[in-house]
Amino acid sequence: MRLEQKQAIITGGAGGIGRATAMALAAEGAEVAVVDLDGRAAEAVAAEIRDAGFAAIAIEADVSSESDIERVIATTVAEFGGVNVVFNNAGIIRRTTAVETTADEWDRVFGVNVRSIFLMCKHVVPIMAAAGGGSIVNTGSGWGLKGGGRAISYCASKGAVVNMTRALAIDHGPQGIRVNSVNPGDVNTGMLRDEAQQLGEDTAAFLAEAADRPLRRMGEPREIAAAVVWLASDESSYVTGSALVVDGGGIA
Ligand code: NAI
Repeated sequence: MRLEQKQAIITGGAGGIGRATAMALAAEGAEVAVVDLDGRAAEAVAAEIRDAGFAAIAIEADVSSESDIERVIATTVAEFGGVNVVFNNAGIIRRTTAVETTADEWDRVFGVNVRSIFLMCKHVVPIMAAAGGGSIVNTGSGWGLKGGGRAISYCASKGAVVNMTRALAIDHGPQGIRVNSVNPGDVNTGMLRDEAQQLGEDTAAFLAEAADRPLRRMGEPREIAAAVVWLASDESSYVTGSALVVDGGGIA
């Protein structure tokens, strides 16, 4: 049990990577708050975790909203007595070029993928600092490091996540707060199917292309979760500001 005495917030906790990570954090002893725009799906994940004998609550929230973020943190603290792990994982993608992207779509992608992390850190860092520290993990992407085609707002937003993570690590390291990004390659979740649909491509062909990397397959959500558990735990006590790539070799 590597996460006993930890209380964790997981955003996008009803999605593929978020659900697997909420389960993995709980299985290591953390009390978890499963946060998602889809409140019913978040409650289903929390119920699954409780049924397995661990502690979990669900909170419906839009992570781009400051009042929602404040409510998420207050609810978690009221329920579990504190918060010392945050997985900022909620994210959306629009498979469009700059020419095809509307200004509103750009703002929405940045609202969910970037502003959310700023807001969460703005309000959770003082709580973590007062309690002696914590670990924040932000979900970037391989495309936040190397770019990719027809996803201009997504690539820009994930690049921002990676560098914001470094800036947060510099600012809050002296308070005992570690901040790292986990950067997945293609992972077998609803997001990939959504991308195939947005691009008007056959889903099976799209998924087969996603598997074309040195390890010859897509990642599974539990493989990202394992990296997040490590970054959340004290086993990574000297790791901060890093961009951990978990992508089956796709970056190479
Ligand atoms: P997913 O679509 O299964 O899960 C995303 C979750 O975020 C959903 O449950 C959705 O309801 C929630 N969400 C969306 N907007 C929200 C908002 N405004 N407030 C609260 N929750 C919101 O996708 P997946 O794959 O699990 O994605 C998780 C993270 O991993 C995202 O940040 C994504 O960009 C990133 N990622 C995913 C990759 C993949 O291949 N699946 C590759 C690289 C990064």
